[in-house]
Amino acid sequence: MKIVVLNGSPKGEQSVTLQYVRYAARKFPDHQFEILPIAQTIRKLEKDEKALALVIDAVKAADAVLWSFPLYFLVVCSQYKRFIELVFERNLQDAFAGKYAASLSTSIHFFDHTAHNYIHAVCDDLGMNYLGAYSAAMYDLMKKPERARWLGFVGRFLDGVSRRVPTARVYPPLVPSAFVYTPQPAAAKVNAMGKKILILKDGQAPLGNADAMATALAAHFGAAAEVVNLMDVDIKGGCLGCCRCGLDNICQYSGKDGYIDFYNEKVKKADVVVFAGAIHDRYLSSRWKLYFDRSFFNTHVPTLSGKQIAFLISGPLGQIANLRQILEAYGEFQECNPAGIVTDESENAAQIDALLADLASSLVRPEAEGYAPPMTFLGVGGRRIFRDEVWGMLRFVFQSDHRYYKKHGLYDFPQKNYKARRMNALMMLLTKIPPVRKKFLKILTEQMVKPLKHVAENR
Ligand SMILES: Cc1cc2nc3c(=O)[nH]c(=O)nc-3n(C[C@H](O)[C@H](O)[C@H](O)COP(=O)(O)O)c2cc1C
Repeated sequence: MKIVVLNGSPKGEQSVTLQYVRYAARKFPDHQFEILPIAQTIRKLEKDEKALALVIDAVKAADAVLWSFPLYFLVVCSQYKRFIELVFERNLQDAFAGKYAASLSTSIHFFDHTAHNYIHAVCDDLGMNYLGAYSAAMYDLMKKPERARWLGFVGRFLDGVSRRVPTARVYPPLVPSAFVYTPQPAAAKVNAMGKKILILKDGQAPLGNADAMATALAAHFGAAAEVVNLMDVDIKGGCLGCCRCGLDNICQYSGKDGYIDFYNEKVKKADVVVFAGAIHDRYLSSRWKLYFDRSFFNTHVPTLSGKQIAFLISGPLGQIANLRQILEAYGEFQECNPAGIVTDESENAAQIDALLADLASSLVRPEAEGYAPPMTFLGVGGRRIFRDEVWGMLRFVFQSDHRYYKKHGLYDFPQKNYKARRMNALMMLLTKIPPVRKKFLKILTEQMVKPLKHVAENR
């Protein structure tokens, strides 16, 4: 059988993920794996119709498609995202419809599930028969059991394709809306209290409800709000995944385009950052993805700590739980306060006006200052992955993260909790004695809450 591999790494042949494909191709010599460098050649694919047609012809001629990509900011990289947009914009879906598909990623498992959910949903939208996701940690291929696991997946995938097994759509089609939001003029100005308010929009044509919401929100602040169109920011290209930024946060684009200055001068210095965008396929636009990917020069350090952020989203966010989770996770790992998400889904201009008016005042209220909600699993889990990776395998590459994590007490390994260790050792010994064990079980609930009761009643 012929498997077309859509390589979603900007590093092309140097891709870590691609080595998994090469390994599988060597172990399954009866099948042909045709690897196409999609992310690396996106500029060409965008401009050169013949080059894009060659990719589409290869997909048409294949028995199955393998989406092979690195994780970039909880999804795929902007270049790969752009390719997916091109397929829809140029009505090339037919080439994919009915083909079998699977997805392969490498990452440090930080929101790998949201990336695979995204690709799965795109496959469903393309009418493909999606057979599953394989999320490898970067260096899994070095381990024998993991190699066996990967081959097991590929074997099952090939078998499924050859038997033409039935598949079911998991993500229902999105229901589009033709609603046009026309805001009423803001009733009263909100006093920005000297805060710097930055509203970012992607400026994608046609300007739609996200743009109107950005303008309407800005109107509440008058001159205190700055609206920046990402199309006006000089961004030469997508993140190349070179990781040069790891040593001192110096990006390979430094001095070559305007993104880094823009991020350092505008985004980092703002008190409030609002992100406005429309949904394109199952995410925002690739321009937005470019913005997020390029912010990777800050590596694994939050840059929006203590700020208020908000999202203005046009499109069916309520139908894409995966995207909502991505936005929420972004707020959590940035350690800021997500003050709200306003969408146009109500199709009710008066309600959107009211939500924007309320958002405007909550973004600058004194009560909001410096507040960030406690992290949920999204932030806590993510931070632990970063902590372990930066302390472990990634330390020599991401030395600036290491310095930051040390300085800010982020190396909070439980092994360092000597009080807990002493108590555990003692209690584990004591609970081996039957009468102590019996007593322990009897008073366990009461003892667990005792210190909290003390605080609740006395502090
Ligand atoms: C800009 C950028 C963003 C990344 N974002 C994530 C992420 O969200 N989650 C994760 O687990 N790894 C993330 N990574 C790590 C890569 O996914 C990982 O190094 C991958 O193995 C690279 O594969 P490749 O060599 O095939 O491009 C990111 C790397 C870069 C450069």
